[in-house]
Amino acid sequence: MKILGICASPRGRESSTLRLVQAALDGAKASGAEVELVDVCKLDIKFCNACQVCFKKGECVHKDDYQDLFDKIMASDGLVWGSPNYFHTVTAQMKTLIDRMADAVHCQLLTGKYCCSVSSGGSNYDQVTTYLDGLMLNFGASVTGSVGAALSQGPKAQEEAEKKAIVLGKSLAEDIKAKRDYVEQRKMQKETREYFKKLVKMNKESWEHEYEYWNRLNWN
Ligand SMILES: Cc1cc2nc3c(=O)[nH]c(=O)nc-3n(C[C@H](O)[C@H](O)[C@H](O)COP(=O)(O)O)c2cc1C
Repeated sequence: MKILGICASPRGRESSTLRLVQAALDGAKASGAEVELVDVCKLDIKFCNACQVCFKKGECVHKDDYQDLFDKIMASDGLVWGSPNYFHTVTAQMKTLIDRMADAVHCQLLTGKYCCSVSSGGSNYDQVTTYLDGLMLNFGASVTGSVGAALSQGPKAQEEAEKKAIVLGKSLAEDIKAKRDYVEQRKMQKETREYFKKLVKMNKESWEHEYEYWNRLNWN
């Protein structure tokens, strides 16, 4: 069982979010997972330019660190997504990574994986965790839960969040082992899958790679 933590705070070792991602990975490791932490801010990931070449060919025109990270995402059973709250949402570094995953969402490539999210904010973190959890459902993944810290509440908030993140990481690993079925999420995943199949069919002339991908799955 492999679990990858993806952190997008530019503050490196000073980052509260990084500590939460690490705590979740520690919990997952205690439950038997092989874990790895990637700091997105140390990678060269260029902006999506919306050329749609990935829809057509399944490959991005940019030659940077994205593909290696995406390969790691695909090789993982579980993902811990971490971003601080920057103006009510994820950091630009996290958003840049997500924007590069448009082909992955059309093909629902996170189907069968389990995810959780962590965030820290001056006063609010749930804007970020709600966004990331909704997004992971959109990619086809199941969501175990989220944890955050509001730093204006003092160091105790961080300590408490780290404790909760350890438990969250353990739950993530347990969900993977049990292939836990979240009934409510399954309904949303089904609707999203139908939506993207329809979209790809509508664009079959230009999105050749995605049309072929769904064809190989017999549109299931
Ligand atoms: C550009 C910027 C925008 C921010 N916007 C918000 C915000 O909208 N809401 C909030 O609660 N905190 C906001 N903050 C505070 C950070 O979320 C907070 O410092 C956080 O703990 C940083 O996480 P890190 O330690 O993992 O880097 C912002 C900080 C920066 C630098």
